Amino acid sequence: MSATSAPPSGKFGSRIGFILAAAGSAIGLGNIWRFPYTTGEYGGAAFVLVYLGFVVLIGVPVLLAELSIGRASGKNPVGAFRELDPGTGKGWTWVGGLGVVTGFGILSFYSVIAGWTLSYLGRALSGTFASTVSPEESGRIFGEIISSPLETVGMAAAFLLLTAVVVRGGVSGGIERASKVLMPVFFVILVVLAARALTLPGGGEGLRFLFSPDFSKLSGEAVMSALGQALFSLSLGMGAMITYGSYLEKKEGLGMAGVSVAVFDTGIAILAGLIIFPALFSVGAKPSAGPGLVFVAMPAIFHSMPLGQAFGAAFYALLAVAALTSTISLLEVVVAYFVGERGWKRERAVWAVTGACLLLAIPSALSQGAVDGLGKFAFEQSFLDLMNIIFGNVSLSLGALLIALFAGWRWGAQKALDEMNGLPLGGVWALAIKVLCPIAIGGVMIYILVTGNFF
Ligand code: PHE
Repeated sequence: MSATSAPPSGKFGSRIGFILAAAGSAIGLGNIWRFPYTTGEYGGAAFVLVYLGFVVLIGVPVLLAELSIGRASGKNPVGAFRELDPGTGKGWTWVGGLGVVTGFGILSFYSVIAGWTLSYLGRALSGTFASTVSPEESGRIFGEIISSPLETVGMAAAFLLLTAVVVRGGVSGGIERASKVLMPVFFVILVVLAARALTLPGGGEGLRFLFSPDFSKLSGEAVMSALGQALFSLSLGMGAMITYGSYLEKKEGLGMAGVSVAVFDTGIAILAGLIIFPALFSVGAKPSAGPGLVFVAMPAIFHSMPLGQAFGAAFYALLAVAALTSTISLLEVVVAYFVGERGWKRERAVWAVTGACLLLAIPSALSQGAVDGLGKFAFEQSFLDLMNIIFGNVSLSLGALLIALFAGWRWGAQKALDEMNGLPLGGVWALAIKVLCPIAIGGVMIYILVTGNFF
């Protein structure tokens, strides 16, 4: 490995450390913020089932493909495709390039939402949610936060800065150590909150919404969103798992690691659903409220439980940490590219990318009420929603399609399987990555293009 391509931060120290770091990338706002509001928007249980189907049939195979590509090459996404392409070594590098651009795009709007969690943390600590907060009151507080230019831009900037500081220090030390402690704590808090939410009066209605499907509600748009959600939530389609795979020791088997990450991630999304939907229905709020859903719904739980204020503060603090372990992986992909391919110093790459990302984050931050023109920017969508659709859905789907084609046909399924070190049901994986993933992802994308009702 040449000096420029070696990860300056070294390898992960242990297998569990890697699993937690990869799970840390996967688990984040995608589970707690995006999963519930998309589920709410597309009518509940039927959407959830399609999402679960995509996690198993597409998510797990593509996750394993990304990890093998990363470890076999030991490189950032762009370098990885060049290294493994048996041909001229040029044609596929742009798939990695697409991933780098996508990571940058996601980071820009993701840090805005992550900034909202910081705002909520501040309010939880100062006791705003200590007394009864009606849905109207809760909505008003949310509106106040997102329409203040200073607060949304400031908090997004603060979050990006936090991310930059960690990524500057390198992957294995900080991330690995922090994830080991904080992820389990987050899980425990979520279980306690779910127990409370499920016993709220009227909470059962929320369970029905989440688990009793009405397939007549499924549109092509809902299916595309379920695909995007499965990929987004597992951090797939843009090279985050390629990059993390490249930091993994050679001897580790990849199968169990990949499956554990998928199980943790999906479990946390469902757990978030078990908290948010019962809470929503118990206060009579609508599940289709859009991106503000979680922020408006959660205070209803905190004021109804003993030590609610402490739980509230802990929830937002840990959500911020979960978001941070995801933004770290997003920034890491872009930084790994500049360090590995352009020979930049890590420090310079971190600050240049963070600065540029903040510029792109500003219109997203201002699009939620602060500046009218950005609220309905194009296709009736706000700037933030548009970024979410383009980078967090379309671009990830395209990336996952190309990664599946590369692993299955170009690099070759057998080489990937060799890299995985004895994957049980390897033949099933090969079939999924060669045939099922391309047909399913391609099929959904073509359907959306033809019917044209996605935006
Ligand atoms: N998976 C992360 C989440 O659910 C978001 C993410 C997407 C991170 C793509 C990295 C790459 O919050």
